Amino acid sequence: MNRDLQTERLSLKPFTLDDREGWHAIWGDPEVIWWGANESPEVSDAALERLIAREAGLPAGVGWLAVRRTGEDEIIGDVLLQQARFVDGMEIGWHFRRHAWGQGYATEAAQAVLERCLAEGVAERVYAAVALENGRSLRVVEKLGMRVEKDMEYAGLPHRLFAIDAPPG
Ligand SMILES: CC(C)(COP(=O)(O)OP(=O)(O)OC[C@H]1O[C@@H](n2cnc3c(N)ncnc32)[C@H](O)[C@@H]1OP(=O)(O)O)[C@@H](O)C(=O)NCCC(=O)NCCS
Repeated sequence: MNRDLQTERLSLKPFTLDDREGWHAIWGDPEVIWWGANESPEVSDAALERLIAREAGLPAGVGWLAVRRTGEDEIIGDVLLQQARFVDGMEIGWHFRRHAWGQGYATEAAQAVLERCLAEGVAERVYAAVALENGRSLRVVEKLGMRVEKDMEYAGLPHRLFAIDAPPG
């Protein structure tokens, strides 16, 4: 299965080892990874290598996608679809560079990943866990039409668990 996705404004593709710089621009920025950014490019490189190695064995349609504005080289964010860390099922998540916030990119990219996942039966239900203090991310899940499941503690912080199901039939 070709894992690439195209939206109105964005191109999404699996990460490769050539994406070290873009990956670190996200994961090394404490304003984006506010719960604990990578302290050096070397730490980010090692994490990217582990991610790519892990993805080789994943089912089609699951994994992390690098997000670019169509026709541009710069990675502006990532969207992930993976085995959830906090519940039995699949989770979706997103991280975008600071300069790319406020333009609807996270919602647009995540919508495409969710739609494909639910339409192609990759999962019947997808979860997202968002820290209650993360207002921007809470707005993204709302715009995606995800419903509240419950509040819970995760990684030492109060989180809200959201879910969305594949349409019937
Ligand atoms: C969470 C995160 C991805 C959200 O980014 P974002 O830019 O606020 O979200 P969106 O891309 O959906 O943009 C929505 C904003 O763009 C605006 N916007 C502009 N053009 C738009 C368009 N064409 N379509 C939709 N929204 C648009 C919306 O009004 C909205 O602004 P508002 O929320 O202030 O009203 C970003 O804040 C981030 O990377 N945070 C750090 C990492 C993180 O916390 N990840 C989540 C862990 S659970």
